[in-house]
Amino acid sequence: MRLPLLQPATTPPPSPSRGDALVDSHGRVIRDVRLSITDRCNFRCVYCMEPDVRFLPREQLLSPDELARLASICLWLGVRRVRLTGGEPTVRPDLLEIIAAVAALGPEDLAMTTNGSLATPALARAWKAAGLTRLTFSLDSLDDATFASMTRSSCSSGTVVDAIRVAIDAGLGPVKANAVVVRGRNEREVVPLARLARDLGIEMRFIEYMPLDSGRAWDPAKLVPASEIVDLISREFPLVPLGKDHEHSTALEYAFADGSPGRIGLIAPVTRPFCGACSRLRITAEGKVRPCLFSVEEWDIGARMRAGASDQSLRDFLLDCAWTKQQGHGIDAPGFRQPDRPMSAIGG
Ligand code: 5AD
Ligand code: SF4
Repeated sequence: MRLPLLQPATTPPPSPSRGDALVDSHGRVIRDVRLSITDRCNFRCVYCMEPDVRFLPREQLLSPDELARLASICLWLGVRRVRLTGGEPTVRPDLLEIIAAVAALGPEDLAMTTNGSLATPALARAWKAAGLTRLTFSLDSLDDATFASMTRSSCSSGTVVDAIRVAIDAGLGPVKANAVVVRGRNEREVVPLARLARDLGIEMRFIEYMPLDSGRAWDPAKLVPASEIVDLISREFPLVPLGKDHEHSTALEYAFADGSPGRIGLIAPVTRPFCGACSRLRITAEGKVRPCLFSVEEWDIGARMRAGASDQSLRDFLLDCAWTKQQGHGIDAPGFRQPDRPMSAIGG
């Protein structure tokens, strides 16, 4: 017997709750949208993308107008905060136009995640003037050899630290920096990075390594649990737990017991999943809606928009997408399946 060909699903089933807010079938409300604006990057971080990764043809990337249209529909449906992600968002030549178009819609917060390699004082000031509110950096190591082996780039950690200073000076704060901790690679960097948080007065966030790498090299043995990271830092700098900074925050926050400026954040998706409080939805650079980082199905709102769909039909489509958001990532579950898309093509 011939089996029917499996077509990739691009349309979610109609949501039983087509109101005027993005809600899912588990009672969560979507308040945060992450717009990936490119899958390209000038780094090849080991936990994200392999050197031979293939990128989307440029014409498939959503234009500034298309991104703003989707953002406006999200905001209309109750989304409050927008984050621009990548790949690396700063490789897009029309980034300023994108920032200005989304900022003009008036989100409560318009943040961007960057590897910091291309930020200059003039650019940071221009991003701020165009309406960007905050920058978050990726910084896994201060040691140049470790930095090079993790990012597989020619950039140095000093360049990223300079970019963090530039962001602070440009008023793009509170500035945060993310480090993904991978066993055998950068545990030794945890304390120096915590020291940097004190020196610069920023929040340093340590993230547990998740199975989202295009090389599929993740294994539980490479995971450094958040509890171990807290122990490593506390031996050098005693910490005071502050809990979560807001209801939907993914990070557990800590202050330094000696009153130093700066904060430590622990993001523990694997050992302390926060899926129950998740308020996020992601849209990829070519317009696929991913209600969860670990979604194995995604919904093609970009194609619908390019086929001439009305705002009302895009709204209904997004409501249906949100309804399908899965309850959790299930990394620990026996049937766990790593999504086909690596982090670089989802957008962090
Ligand atoms: N696990 C955890 N975090 C990751 N990031 C990228 N890949 C992974 C992964 N496999 C994070 C990086 C970056 C953000 C966009 O996503 O810290 O700052
Ligand atoms: Fe690029 Fe960010 Fe992925 Fe690193 S984690 S390769 S900087 S997209």
